[in-house]
Amino acid sequence: MAQSSTSNGASGGSGGSAGKTIKIGIIGSGGIAKAHARAYKTIPDVEVVAVADVVPGKAQKFVDELELTSARAFEDHKQALELGLDGVSVCTPNVAHHRTSIDALEAGTHVLTEKPMAVTLDQAMEMARVAKRTGKILTIGFQPRYDPNMQMVKQMVQSGELGKVYYVETGGGRRRGMPGGTFIRKDLAGAGALADIGCYSLDMALNAIGYPRPLTVSAYASNHFGSNPRYHKEADRFEVEDFGCALVRLEGDVALNFKLSWAMHMDTLGATMFLGTDAGLKVTPAGSGPWSGVWDGGVGSVTLYHDIRGHHTESPIPIRQHQLRIFDEKVKDFAAAIREGRPAPIPGEQIVRNQAVIDGILRSVEQQREVEIHIPEI
Ligand SMILES: NC(=O)c1ccc[n+]([C@@H]2O[C@H](COP(=O)([O-])OP(=O)(O)OC[C@H]3O[C@@H](n4cnc5c(N)ncnc54)[C@H](O)[C@@H]3O)[C@@H](O)[C@H]2O)c1
Repeated sequence: MAQSSTSNGASGGSGGSAGKTIKIGIIGSGGIAKAHARAYKTIPDVEVVAVADVVPGKAQKFVDELELTSARAFEDHKQALELGLDGVSVCTPNVAHHRTSIDALEAGTHVLTEKPMAVTLDQAMEMARVAKRTGKILTIGFQPRYDPNMQMVKQMVQSGELGKVYYVETGGGRRRGMPGGTFIRKDLAGAGALADIGCYSLDMALNAIGYPRPLTVSAYASNHFGSNPRYHKEADRFEVEDFGCALVRLEGDVALNFKLSWAMHMDTLGATMFLGTDAGLKVTPAGSGPWSGVWDGGVGSVTLYHDIRGHHTESPIPIRQHQLRIFDEKVKDFAAAIREGRPAPIPGEQIVRNQAVIDGILRSVEQQREVEIHIPEI
């Protein structure tokens, strides 16, 4: 079982369920729900007992296909929650993360919500507040946290080896990697590339530097590819951004330069960089080709740039080969946190700051100017 190095000790994890079967529900039975179901099936003492999907018949089809022999199918997630579940995976489109997560927490159920946490900062705030009040786990599904290379990057940044980190550049670029369906509808996804895969890059960078509070943001976004029938077969329905960039001011006098694309005429938007007063750290994404270059794709290389007696030196850091299926690890860690009464592995309370950046970006894009970010107390 993965030992989480992700917890910041935030709320959640009351009681524990040692010794008894953990009853799990899955809300939303589309693409990613399959990965959740398959991961749960590998965990002893965990049973998926409910699947809910608003599309009539879809949950039952999912139950049959995935051979979830103990599961009942529902169209309304509230009926599923009446079974007295221990935990749920929220696998709906982004816009429904808020309502379904809150209903689950209020029903006394621990929650693993898929990324991004929500659509707006207000929604994320309410989710975190309800988790705090109910004492239930609200963990957000950033599986790259379980990549040992990501953990190493965080350790290096946190060790103080870089000195004061004053600039972070992150993001990623797919050359051609625009999804369709629910992901391009504003009413369901809330936003496009910036939220969909941008939230991973933000989590990687912000987690490494200790999730400082974002203060202001000036952002730009466009959709020249998604809205062009030459590049997207659903161009007439493409309502979100396929490219964006932002300069975010963080507390502690740190600048964050963030850029992201689902499609562009370029091979990459560059590495993630941490510039510190004593050293710099460069992290390149794994792989090459049209869909590579985002942080759900893994780490390609890590290099430390430093200075010894006035001479510039570079130290490539060996990438740890690992056999972990990081997606499964996040699901397993959620189940383990329930069993052991641990706090949320990737606390909603922390990821509110990730959502705050995305919320600020979308407001800045709309207003075409720099905007302030205020995060109230949770
Ligand atoms: N962590 C990852 O690697 C990863 C990968 C892909 C998607 N995701 C995230 O997972 C979520 C779902 O993505 P997907 O690709 O499975 O989308 P999808 O469109 O394939 O599936 C979503 C399902 O939710 C259902 N649904 C909508 N509203 C609902 C509600 N209120 N209650 C119950 N069911 C509802 C839809 O009918 C659909 O079947 C998104 O937030 C996405 O960002 C995460």
